[in-house]
Amino acid sequence: MKRSKIAGLGYYVPSRVVTNHDLVQIMNTTHEWIVERTGILERRYVSEEDKNYTMAAQASKTALERAGISPYELELIVYATLSPDYQFPGSGVLLQRELKCRTIPAIDIRAQCSGFVYALSVADQFIRTGMYQNALVVGSEIHSYGLDYSDYGRHIAVIFGDGAGAAVLKATDNLQEGILSTHLHSDGEFAEKLALLSPSFSCKPPRITEEMLSPGGSFYPVMDGPFVFKNATQRFCEVILEALQANQLRVEDIDLLVPHQANLRISQAIQKQLGLPDSKVFNNIQKYGNTTAASIPIALTEAWEAGNIKDGDLVCLAAFGSGFTWASALIRW
Ligand code: UT7
Repeated sequence: MKRSKIAGLGYYVPSRVVTNHDLVQIMNTTHEWIVERTGILERRYVSEEDKNYTMAAQASKTALERAGISPYELELIVYATLSPDYQFPGSGVLLQRELKCRTIPAIDIRAQCSGFVYALSVADQFIRTGMYQNALVVGSEIHSYGLDYSDYGRHIAVIFGDGAGAAVLKATDNLQEGILSTHLHSDGEFAEKLALLSPSFSCKPPRITEEMLSPGGSFYPVMDGPFVFKNATQRFCEVILEALQANQLRVEDIDLLVPHQANLRISQAIQKQLGLPDSKVFNNIQKYGNTTAASIPIALTEAWEAGNIKDGDLVCLAAFGSGFTWASALIRW
């Protein structure tokens, strides 16, 4: 039996900074409302040269360099995104081509905000069983092109941002380190509470109508914000406690919690429920907004770069989002 260790981390965010004040110029909102309800000060939006898979490639190159392996040595790509470059094929193969990897498997994961933890878990299973020695796990998103900046979508438009993050996993024989366990859940009962319904293969021709494209139309994400918020705080705590219990660990054993950056108020509610001090919870939503599948690897990389993660630390990742899906991972660094 093997374990997977995170051997390298990287992230890429587009250079275009969009502050709350910039949003006020194009939509009906205020800096004060956004800060009070979400904690977000600014986010990044892609420029023309950025694509979902090119951002993923940038993040991956940093992670690979830090892990000391070349793209040619990679054995598996697991790619999480809710905003893929194409309807099909998935962005995983575009990343395989961009990085000039061998003809390795490229698996796309559709678990939205929980996508990175799901992807990490998938890669971990392949490494645990000895099938592969290393894997690239990526979360990448472009939200800015698909948001409804009218009053119908303003509660969603202000929270999302663009970016990518990546982790390289390597096999280790040391069972005391690496990914201790992952815990994945879903409940499709609430699938439409946070969703993007079009374009859809369930739509009869003509598959695209003027109505779909107009403000409030189904080409834009919908979200019952308060309902999602309530479920998120509950599920985040549940899945963190589940991970601790599975490893006979306690909340006090966590050295750093890196939650999916959904809303600063959600992170603060989880922190309060668990009784964790500020120093043990990493947040960067203030700078990047909610980048769904990319938010955990971006935050994890920044936490590592800032020296907030040392060898031997117990790091907990946790996520909740559209689906609903929710997930956690416990990692001994
Ligand atoms: O990523 C994982 C999944 N996503 C989440 O976890 C997000 C969970 N939900 C949330 O974070 C929050 O629900 C939001 C930040 C999205 C919204 O905050 P809220 O406190 O739940 O606001 P709300 O949607 O209930 O709206 C409250 C008021 C409404 O006005 P009235 O009806 O009270 O007059 C909205 O029209 O705020 C208004 N509003 C806004 N005002 C200014 C909604 N969006 C905006 C806006 N600017 N952008």
